[in-house]
Amino acid sequence: MGDYMERLVVNRRSCRRYLDKNVSPDVISRILKAMESAPTGGNSCGVEHTVIDDKERTREIWNAAYPVMEANAKRHNYTSSFSDFYYTKMKQSEKTVRKGDLLFCGAPHLFIAHERCVGKWAEDSKVNCNLATAYFELLANAFGLGTVIMSYPADALKELAPAAREMLNIPTDHYMNLIVGFGYPEICYARGVQKERGGKIHRWTQRKSR
Ligand SMILES: Cc1cc2nc3c(=O)[nH]c(=O)nc-3n(C[C@H](O)[C@H](O)[C@H](O)COP(=O)(O)O)c2cc1C
Repeated sequence: MGDYMERLVVNRRSCRRYLDKNVSPDVISRILKAMESAPTGGNSCGVEHTVIDDKERTREIWNAAYPVMEANAKRHNYTSSFSDFYYTKMKQSEKTVRKGDLLFCGAPHLFIAHERCVGKWAEDSKVNCNLATAYFELLANAFGLGTVIMSYPADALKELAPAAREMLNIPTDHYMNLIVGFGYPEICYARGVQKERGGKIHRWTQRKSR
């Protein structure tokens, strides 16, 4: 199991090029079934999973959001996380890595982990959702799917395109900060992304031996 998990984590990478094809419903069902075992704070099991598993529906949501986002950008109105600089950069990347779609990265399907987020355990609710997002991402990759975790479209739907957000049917008091785009990948990469994380590990045994 360790070998498989290691390969999965080391070789996963964000996918921003997808085949224009629905993923087999059986594969999605298997992933969602496994997701039931993801941990939640206090075993509250309150995380809800919204899956846009029909590419035509994803396109309808895109159609309700993308032109609104563009119209806002023309007035220099962006999500709170964006600015002229970042939007211009993202727009440029549509011609290279994002296949003409800075919003959903061309993904035919969307997965959103969300949970009512109020009161004493609100922070746990956020963590539950973010953990579910990570579990979904890894499971989908294990089943040979491409994925991309995205915060930008979550912000865009919440802040700029409320009509598109409504189409998700997610209550407004639910935490919804990440959307996972997924589908069959157009490109199968031979290896993962090389990342240098040196110096960010703090191990007790190493500290003692210095
Ligand atoms: C919290 C979070 C938010 C992200 N938001 C976006 C996004 O809005 N759009 C996007 O294309 N990628 C987004 N990404 C993907 C990252 O850009 C990507 O994981 C990172 O560049 C590392 O590349 P890799 O996933 O191929 O290893 C996000 C990733 C995380 C963890």
